[in-house]
Amino acid sequence: MDRTFVMVKPDGVARGLTAHIVSRFEEKGFKLAAAKLMQLDRMVAEEHYDHLRSKVFFDELVDFITSGPVFAMVLEGKDAVKNARSLIGATNPSDALPGTIRGDYAIDVASNIVHGSDSEDNAEREISLYFH
Ligand code: RTP
Ligand code: MG
Repeated sequence: MDRTFVMVKPDGVARGLTAHIVSRFEEKGFKLAAAKLMQLDRMVAEEHYDHLRSKVFFDELVDFITSGPVFAMVLEGKDAVKNARSLIGATNPSDALPGTIRGDYAIDVASNIVHGSDSEDNAEREISLYFH
């Protein structure tokens, strides 16, 4: 079965939306295969966002993702990476369509509530980073 890595970011956990977001994925048809509430340290956060190291917002991104607990998940389902990304919606909530998670629950790109792996290789890399 295909699988992907999804994480409710600190804004989603702080707003009490974790269970709701898990439900959105379950309603879509995903199976929750693993999950944990955790606090990221800077090393893990920097590794997670390694592809964005050169961006001006990198430090801000790491500060934000380490600012409070996150809820990390492994989701199983057909075309898991693609299906999860389409349910999550565009990176910038201003561009995310209503009906997507970011379209319905987020307004700012810096706190866009949920992360989803962007490729099968990155899904496996992120699953090993968070669940080992
Ligand atoms: P994610 O990894 O969180 O699922 O988001 P994504 O693939 O849609 O976007 P990505 O390019 O991987 O960026 C990761 C996160 O960085 C923040 N970001 N801020 N200030 C900005 O212009 C900016 N651009 C990206 C977002 O929180 C994005 O989710
Ligand atoms: Mg990404």
